[in-house]
Amino acid sequence: MPKVTISIIKCDVGSLAGHYIVPKPLFNVAEKNLKKAAEKNVINSYYIFNAGDDLELLMVHEKGEQNPEIHKLAWDTFKECASKASQLKLYAAGQDLLKDAFSGNVRGLGPGVAEIEIEERASDPIVVFAADKTSAGSFNYPLFRIFADPMNTAGLVIDPNMICGFKFEVIDTKENKSIILKCPEEMYELLALIGTVGRYIVSRVWRASDNLICAASSVSKLSLIAGKYVGKDDPVMIARAQHGLPAVGEILAPFMHSYFVQGWMRGSHWGPIMPVGLKSSKCTVFDGPPRIVALGFQVANGKISCDDEGNPLIADMFDDPAFALARREAVHNACTLRNMGEFEPARLSAEEMEYTTIKQVLGKLGKRFKPLE
Ligand code: F6R
Ligand code: MG
Ligand code: MG
Repeated sequence: MPKVTISIIKCDVGSLAGHYIVPKPLFNVAEKNLKKAAEKNVINSYYIFNAGDDLELLMVHEKGEQNPEIHKLAWDTFKECASKASQLKLYAAGQDLLKDAFSGNVRGLGPGVAEIEIEERASDPIVVFAADKTSAGSFNYPLFRIFADPMNTAGLVIDPNMICGFKFEVIDTKENKSIILKCPEEMYELLALIGTVGRYIVSRVWRASDNLICAASSVSKLSLIAGKYVGKDDPVMIARAQHGLPAVGEILAPFMHSYFVQGWMRGSHWGPIMPVGLKSSKCTVFDGPPRIVALGFQVANGKISCDDEGNPLIADMFDDPAFALARREAVHNACTLRNMGEFEPARLSAEEMEYTTIKQVLGKLGKRFKPLE
């Protein structure tokens, strides 16, 4: 049985009514391209959705991670969508396409990507997450809860296949280096790093006993590519579930409550994450609050399991009253933060603001500062 790769590649190609939502004509372009790619067996199956203003291409194939053909398919699709967005004069057409030329891989060019190559188990449940108006470090908290916190994941205590613990790869996005830490033994060191969500980002998780890949998330920081603020790095994440891994319910449990993430208006504020179904995957108030969607599916024979007509079977996991409390908390906390206007901690710290347009505003004041006597 060949190995199967799950790739989720996303891009803000331009959106309707400001940075609100990916409109239908852009979905149509993506659908045309991925359908053709599936007919030519470049990919085995796909599902297209949006996280607010981000177009999300979920693709299942047998070509491995970082495959030039798969990445080119995504890149060409985003380019075509961006040109359609330009024709329609949608907002910020091509926003995340930071480079002109494709060179074999979308990493570093603007789009976000999370990929895992797996040996398909007898039954392989997967959950993919996509968030809008936030950034890559936003998954540090749930990934820690899911794979390291026995108060969240009962399986860490109850399932003998999980007592071995999990290994976390953490990327230092400032210095471009990575480290692997093993939980539970190095839990405190892991927390010491990944609590700094603007810098250290969990990129991969493996089961410690057999190095089974369990999760991957995108780590791109657009401002570090472009040197200035060009939109937040609305992240994506893939998690594998069940049978010796956290159950789907344990993967979703951290989202019973809202928590704070960086992003929201102008990528410059702390905002409460709001778990929503696809129909509410759109940002409104103060360009938010930041939204997250979770889609569950099964990988079967190298594809996403389908119905009898060949349509992928997708579970819209946050479209559920069980997350109503988290949504209420998000609205409540959004109000609390917005009452603070531009005062910290509503606004990000000065260091995090460095890559935004505030630099220009403060730059103008530079010469007017006089040294104190
Ligand atoms: C956040 C985001 C928006 C914009 C804001 C201003 O990721 O994209 O909050 O930063 O709407 O956009 P411009 O400067 O294009 O008017
Ligand atoms: Mg946008
Ligand atoms: Mg976005």
